[in-house]
Amino acid sequence: MKKVQLSENLSLSAVVQGFWRLDGWNMTPDELVKFMHGCIERGVTTFDTAEIYGDTVVESLMGEAFAKDPTIRDQIELVSKTGIYKHDGFGYYNTTYDRILQSCHESLERLHTDHLDLYLIHREDPLLNPWDTAKALKKLKADGLVREVGVSNFDPYKFDGLNKAMEGQLVTNQIEWNPLCFEHFNSGMIDYLTFNKIHPMIWSPLAGGRIFKGEDEVGKKAYAKIAEIAERHNVEPATIIYAWIMYHPVGAIPLVGSSKLERLDLAIKALDVKLEQYEWFEIYAASGQQQIR
Ligand SMILES: NC(=O)c1ccc[n+]([C@@H]2O[C@H](COP(=O)([O-])OP(=O)(O)OC[C@H]3O[C@@H](n4cnc5c(N)ncnc54)[C@H](OP(=O)(O)O)[C@@H]3O)[C@@H](O)[C@H]2O)c1
Repeated sequence: MKKVQLSENLSLSAVVQGFWRLDGWNMTPDELVKFMHGCIERGVTTFDTAEIYGDTVVESLMGEAFAKDPTIRDQIELVSKTGIYKHDGFGYYNTTYDRILQSCHESLERLHTDHLDLYLIHREDPLLNPWDTAKALKKLKADGLVREVGVSNFDPYKFDGLNKAMEGQLVTNQIEWNPLCFEHFNSGMIDYLTFNKIHPMIWSPLAGGRIFKGEDEVGKKAYAKIAEIAERHNVEPATIIYAWIMYHPVGAIPLVGSSKLERLDLAIKALDVKLEQYEWFEIYAASGQQQIR
């Protein structure tokens, strides 16, 4: 599997397995260990999680698997995120120095590991104080608890502010992008990352499965075009979506959210698909949200 280099110290597999939905997969610890080995055997060595997933349950389940089979941890790059909390069920953000340090220690404990390979600020906190947050992220790096740091769901202003406070050490922005979602094209984030040679990680590349459900007009329109292109290339529609994301010069890394290894294979297969330039635009315009003038 191709690797994508985020920094001198860290490369991720070109396809990443996401574990957000793990608490709904009903896997036994043994089944989860087997699933993780299935990813590694395929070269998908980067695993994505967050402290808020399943209200911390997802990190605990992953940690159980790492404890059960200690060979796994050394074979993967482990990504987690911080900054979202709940108070009596009410979700809010906290990206202050003390909270980040506490969260990181708690995540490491739940995950049964002594370091994270990549640690992300999960969402753009309206109360973000870039200098305070940067101080915490620098300390975690200096203490060897995280190898690299980045953000998720940041707009260009917040990314630039925190990256300046970090002296340019942010290595990624994990953002949503799929044939139904163009937020980060429209905000200029994709251009910013392309110019600065920062590779984004892409969440919900299949729109969380919505694109296959045929439940809304936007999804139906996009799916019809993607299915037509998939037939031309003799692959599954999902493969075409991953190929479309990886076609862009920004060098994006899709996160697969499925519980099924055969669906992970559909993403890996995309590394061999070469779309035509006009096909990229066919998908860009398919849902009717983006105009080609
Ligand atoms: N940074 C953030 O704010 C953020 C937010 C959301 C997610 N993430 C990360 O990104 C990862 C991926 O996100 P995601 O789970 O939304 O990704 P996704 O791949 O867009 O969606 C996965 C969902 O789609 C379903 N699916 C896949 N192929 C399908 C098909 N052919 N037909 C019908 N359903 C299909 C899967 O079900 P099956 O399991 O049955 O295949 C699963 O429920 C997460 O695991 C997480 O690590 C990050």
